Amino acid sequence: MAQPSGRHFLQIPGPTNVPDRILRAMGRPTIDHRGPEFAALGQEVLQGLKGVFQTAGPVVIYPASGTGAWEAALVNTLTPGDHVLMFETGHFATLWRQLAERLGLTVDLVPGDWRRGVDPAAVEAKLAEDRAQTIKAVCVVHNETSTGVASRIPEVRAAIDRAQHPALFFVDTISSLASIDYRHDAWGVDVTVAGSQKGLMLPPGLSFNAISAKALEATETAGLSRSYWDWSEMLGPNSKGFFPYTPATNLLYGLKEAIAMLNEEGLANVFARHNRHAEATRRAVRAWGLELLCADQREYSSSLTAVLMPAGQDADTFRKVVLDNYDMSLGSGLGKVAGKVFRIGHLGDFNDLTLAGTLAGVEMSLAVAGVPHAKGGVQAAMDFLAGRNAALGENLELRDSLAS
Ligand SMILES: Cc1ncc(COP(=O)(O)O)c(C=O)c1O
Repeated sequence: MAQPSGRHFLQIPGPTNVPDRILRAMGRPTIDHRGPEFAALGQEVLQGLKGVFQTAGPVVIYPASGTGAWEAALVNTLTPGDHVLMFETGHFATLWRQLAERLGLTVDLVPGDWRRGVDPAAVEAKLAEDRAQTIKAVCVVHNETSTGVASRIPEVRAAIDRAQHPALFFVDTISSLASIDYRHDAWGVDVTVAGSQKGLMLPPGLSFNAISAKALEATETAGLSRSYWDWSEMLGPNSKGFFPYTPATNLLYGLKEAIAMLNEEGLANVFARHNRHAEATRRAVRAWGLELLCADQREYSSSLTAVLMPAGQDADTFRKVVLDNYDMSLGSGLGKVAGKVFRIGHLGDFNDLTLAGTLAGVEMSLAVAGVPHAKGGVQAAMDFLAGRNAALGENLELRDSLAS
């Protein structure tokens, strides 16, 4: 097949577009991972990550996809037969549950309709009725990438506290870290699970655990078998910038650049940018007369939007029209919502015009595919984006006139 001209629009909710700066950083020659130059790199990225996770504690880096970091969180802290409280918020929560069961954990599952996040009241009720304190961990996916629903982590923490329950709190931030506000320490999380290929703007291949003091303490009694994932194997060499096995050196070059880019923009600005693009996207979806999968506006995701197809229309047929006509990849419906939704990724290295192009591709494809819709989605998004900029411009003028 001939290479289409222009660039491919990779608008799935991760892996995301890797900026040129990061690609160039990764293109440097690989160095000795036991030498002094590597030690400086290791220390810099391990330290820099603390800012991204908003933690003073250790963050470990695995050369693995996010699934590895899911497993690491469980095997370092729990014992076969332990109960864990999980919530059926979507496809990724379901996969984490399967992983936990395969490890020999007993999962207490709160069922869900894949349109809502974790209900803090349900957390409190479940923990309050667990008088024997058999539940050892509460596991929540912060941003369900399959549904575009973001659970309210501080409220879940408050629910655990109200129940006065000692369970550990594990949060998967694979599609929220560095795109949606997240604070490991302030929100009292024990293990944060994350991956490289979304808000961090890196290729797939790295995953992370941020670890609280309570989680570290749990390793002393945790009975699940572990070797590759063992935090204690990591933390010793990490203190000098090294790893217990061959690290993904070139991905770490990229990570160093990604952390620099996030710091240059400022995390608060990164979050505000994602919020703004998500709001513009929702305005487009509403103008098209289509429905958001997320049913609760308190839980709208800022990194992706999942859109329900009208009855009788297949989302994958639509995505094929988008790819064939406009060389753009949108996210597919996963698991229970396969064929029913498509997902627009608006996270990572992304700006107003990337969003305008993405939405234009969707709107044109709705017409090409004959999907019933109203026109004007792109316009609604542009009005929002330009309106905000106009307001910002006026504010700057006002500020300048006051200053002069
Ligand atoms: C929220 C969430 N959790 C876990 C995973 C699994 O990560 P990986 O596919 O990198 O193993 C993903 C992947 O997209 C995800 O979005």
